[in-house]
Amino acid sequence: TAPDRGESILGKMRTLFLLLLFLCKTQSQAAPRPNIVLLMADDLGIGDPGCYGNKTLRTPNIDRLAREGAKLTQHLAASPLCTPSRASFLTGRYSVRSGMASWNRFGVYIFTASSGGLPSSEITFAKLLKSQGYSTALIGKWHLGLNCHNRTDFCHHPLRHGFDDFFGTPMTNLRDCKPGEGTVFAGAHRWLVFVPLQVIGVAVLTLGVLRCLGLLRVPPGVFICLLLLVALILLLFLSFLHFFRPLNCFLMRNYDIAQQPMSFDNLTQRLTAEATGFIRRNAERPFLLFLSFLHVHTAHFSSREFAKKSQHGPYGDGVEEMDWSVGQILDVLEELKLARDTLVYFTSDHGAHVEEVSAKGEQHGGSNGIYKGGKSNNWEGGIRIPGILRWPGVIPAGLEIDEPTSNMDIFPTVAKLAGSPLPKDRIIDGRDLMPLLEGRSRRSEHEFLFHYCNAYLSAVRWSPRNGTSIWKAFYFTPKFNPEGANGCFGTHVCYCLGSYVTHHNPPLLFDIARDPSERNPLTPDTEPRFHDILRVMQEAADHHTKTLPEVPNQLSVGNIVWKPWLQICCSSSSGLSCQCDRQKRDQGVGN
Ligand SMILES: *[C@@H]1O[C@H](CO)[C@@H](O)[C@H](O)[C@H]1NC(C)=O
Ligand SMILES: *[C@@H]1O[C@H](CO)[C@@H](O)[C@H](O)[C@H]1NC(C)=O
Ligand SMILES: *[C@@H]1O[C@H](CO)[C@@H](O)[C@H](O)[C@H]1NC(C)=O
Ligand SMILES: *[C@@H]1O[C@H](CO)[C@@H](O)[C@H](O)[C@H]1NC(C)=O
Repeated sequence: TAPDRGESILGKMRTLFLLLLFLCKTQSQAAPRPNIVLLMADDLGIGDPGCYGNKTLRTPNIDRLAREGAKLTQHLAASPLCTPSRASFLTGRYSVRSGMASWNRFGVYIFTASSGGLPSSEITFAKLLKSQGYSTALIGKWHLGLNCHNRTDFCHHPLRHGFDDFFGTPMTNLRDCKPGEGTVFAGAHRWLVFVPLQVIGVAVLTLGVLRCLGLLRVPPGVFICLLLLVALILLLFLSFLHFFRPLNCFLMRNYDIAQQPMSFDNLTQRLTAEATGFIRRNAERPFLLFLSFLHVHTAHFSSREFAKKSQHGPYGDGVEEMDWSVGQILDVLEELKLARDTLVYFTSDHGAHVEEVSAKGEQHGGSNGIYKGGKSNNWEGGIRIPGILRWPGVIPAGLEIDEPTSNMDIFPTVAKLAGSPLPKDRIIDGRDLMPLLEGRSRRSEHEFLFHYCNAYLSAVRWSPRNGTSIWKAFYFTPKFNPEGANGCFGTHVCYCLGSYVTHHNPPLLFDIARDPSERNPLTPDTEPRFHDILRVMQEAADHHTKTLPEVPNQLSVGNIVWKPWLQICCSSSSGLSCQCDRQKRDQGVGN
């Protein structure tokens, strides 16, 4: 039996060795290189998800994510507008550094055939993760440009910014994308069409009367010219109405058009199916999925299962459908046993668009909870966004972090987790979130944050290392209209310059920790350190401003106008109709 005993000792040693190996392996597996799933809503307010206090909008899946992970309560968008906020999110930098912040009134792209966009010199987290062997996909909205010089250079395309796969819209969802939902061009239509037509109408009438009365000799040519002008204006207007939708609202798969114009039928289901398909295909290797929802920007839409089901109209239906989609993603991670190896992040690109009201006066924008203002301004309602991070076993479940954090922080956080060094040749404004999330640190690394309204520094936030106050100083604030409203209803969004804003000198100072709704500006009487605080903040702002390079302005008028030679358009058998549907066979996918 001696050889037997020898064997059993050997056997035991082998078991022990395997056990040790297993322990080491699971130890080393616990932290590094998780999959990354980033879920971003469009225009969702912090007052909308249940886990942020909403009692009537049902978001069980987003709430579940918060329960199983960490909830950030002072998570801030780098900008209160889609294009600049998304540029900052992807690059970890204030959008003024990449030229993705406008010096004009308009801060976003509204045409797919504009020449501006995220410059190829910028480094996105997708690029970094791809270089570390991650499989990367963007599904949904991009809104960071498409072409530069011709319709096939795709210089700003997601695939040029580190994504292996793209399915979605290069632009954004707009009211004009869905018939019957109104237009974002109401102001332009008024000033370029209706007012000129009225002026011409009055002129024709006056001249006609004067001519009839024999008071003025008007040659018939004048009437003909005026009528031709009317015809031209009407022709251009009708062409715009007819062509805007196909030319700007379409879905692409990588470099090809998948559906033009885009259909809203089961759209969330189709995006979700693309996302879960990507996860399934990449279950065996590290992946980065950025699912950028079209919800809940107008035009609102939802599938039959969600339409008219919420208590908050088409907006609420959209939120609940998006929440369903979040659940589908969590379920597929569960099913593939990837949940513990995956960092999931949920956020919105900025605050809810409170001015979004339908022609009938129905509220179409979301809720920013107790916070003032919303999309397009730097009151807390515009920049304070949901921020939820889940990574079971690493981030304690139910954690709540009140420290200031930014959507730019995702860049260094996921780069580090993927094992990628940060670029050394540029300033990265985001900070690694893991020390806060793992409880290794109790204070945010953001002592100062800078709140931009397009390219203009609107406010500074200071969270002194040794204090409990969060100071916020405004250099200018938007003029809300009508007077007393909580937004700029007259212009539909607030603008950042000229007569649309009120400048403050000394700056308007709040302590956000004590006055999160920004109701009571401090004065030297109510805050004895008033001038000292403002001096420190001014120094920080000056220091920050000195670090900004001169860069080409990607949102100049020349870079946002429609350039016909950049327009992409799918051809059909009948020629260039700009209408095709390669999605048809896929419809009804999802579950
Ligand atoms: C479009 O521009 C790219 C880069 O500038 C160039 O390589 C390509 O040949 C151009 N294509 C056409 C069709 O002009
Ligand atoms: C919940 O969300 C809806 C839709 O945005 C909003 O109308 C309502 O006021 C919100 N409720 C709370 C308590 O914020
Ligand atoms: C925090 O530190 C600064 C100087 O570093 C000091 O002036 C200030 O009084 C301190 N604040 C508190 C609340 O201790
Ligand atoms: C949307 O999906 C549902 C359920 O899968 C299906 O019954 C319906 O036909 C689809 N609608 C369209 C327009 O494809």
